[in-house]
Amino acid sequence: MPARELYKTMTNETKTILVTGGAGFIGSNFVLHWIAQQKGKVVNLDLLTYAGNLGNLVSLAGHPDHIFVQGDIGDRALVDRLIAEHLPSAIVHFAAESHVDRSILGPEAFLRTNIYGTFHLLEAARAYLATLTAEEKDAFRFLHVSTDEVYGTLEPNDPAFHEDTPFAPNSPYAASKAASDHLVRAWVHTYKLPALITNCSNNYGPLQFPEKLLPLMINNALAGKPLPVYGDGQQVRDWLFVLDHCRAIETVLERGRIGETYNVGGGNQQANLDVVNMVCALLDELVPDSPYKPHSQLIRFVQDRPGHDRRYAIDARKLEGELGWHAQETFATGLRKTVEWYLNNKAWMDEVTSGAYQNWMRANYGERSDETKASVTTAGVK
Ligand code: NAD
Ligand code: TYD
Repeated sequence: MPARELYKTMTNETKTILVTGGAGFIGSNFVLHWIAQQKGKVVNLDLLTYAGNLGNLVSLAGHPDHIFVQGDIGDRALVDRLIAEHLPSAIVHFAAESHVDRSILGPEAFLRTNIYGTFHLLEAARAYLATLTAEEKDAFRFLHVSTDEVYGTLEPNDPAFHEDTPFAPNSPYAASKAASDHLVRAWVHTYKLPALITNCSNNYGPLQFPEKLLPLMINNALAGKPLPVYGDGQQVRDWLFVLDHCRAIETVLERGRIGETYNVGGGNQQANLDVVNMVCALLDELVPDSPYKPHSQLIRFVQDRPGHDRRYAIDARKLEGELGWHAQETFATGLRKTVEWYLNNKAWMDEVTSGAYQNWMRANYGERSDETKASVTTAGVK
């Protein structure tokens, strides 16, 4: 049967989506979730940067619904070939450089992947769209996964970010994501690309690379290493359990209105220091024979992140009211599941923290520790 005919007879068994960045934290959780529900095939395009890890996908080894391709979203010939071969009914775009601290130390890769990479992907989708019949065009979706950091920072009593909050990105990472969101918007408006955007808050959960707050604190605490809290630790983030985020993306993909942006948040605003103390309390409970108890004694205040955003909070009422999505985890339930997952998956942590990870720790924390040695305080007993 010619490929075109095949597209018309798609059922869940034959339907294919192209996922970018599906070996990273959120992307791999999404791929696992999608395939567990037998939603169809996934072509997973990932460059396997330091943040990409095939170990996240071991449970899919040999699975007929998972096709992994190592490559760059900016490689137009590769993306065109994958699209022509697999005729995806959707592109779900996670691939990005995603860590604020790395963007401060080296912004160029963020511009290359987040802006130019997204541009090339949009162009590939546009060229593909031109080959589709009206019916196929109706069914096709491009979902761009973005962040609440495009909106900038909030004062303590400001209302949460909503979809019309003006963009005011403060870090190179946030600026590069804001630029990519603008590109997606322009491709919808100018070329009628059937795209949607989700802007979500801080995710947490299994399979997160330990450069981000939660897995870093869990990993350090288990090893009896200092828990580096930036500045005064009173910065607020709105924590979203990664599976709730995956369910939101699924909802927007299946029922979202083309051209719309949907904010996704967990409704869990917490100050960083409180989060770290909650992790410590859980570890005290779950690792009762730890020589480092109480783990909060390991907390250290270190030099703040330059330009550190004070508060993020998401108003997710559009997604909830229009599409019926609701976060299923509270912070207490999600955090317990998360800590338990890292305790049960020490081999995963050992593997991702070997090699280049140590260089990152030296680059990001070496300076901070030196400059603040004199003013280091122990937060847990303050
Ligand atoms: P991650 O850093 O864990 O994973 C990114 C993945 O993209 C990695 O597997 C990496 O190998 C891949 N990648 C990087 N450059 C690539 C390229 N040029 N071509 C192909 N693949 C490439 O990131 P994450 O936390 O899973 O975030 C996924 C998306 O969600 C990103 O777009 C990020 O901006 C957004 N987001 C994340 C959070 C969060 O809390 N983690 C919050 C809001 C938005
Ligand atoms: P992070 O996980 O890097 O996510 P983002 O910068 O996208 O919000 O950081 C979450 C918060 O935790 C942020 O306010 C910075 C803070 N933080 C620390 O205090 N110490 C750390 O070692 C890290 C990595 C983050």
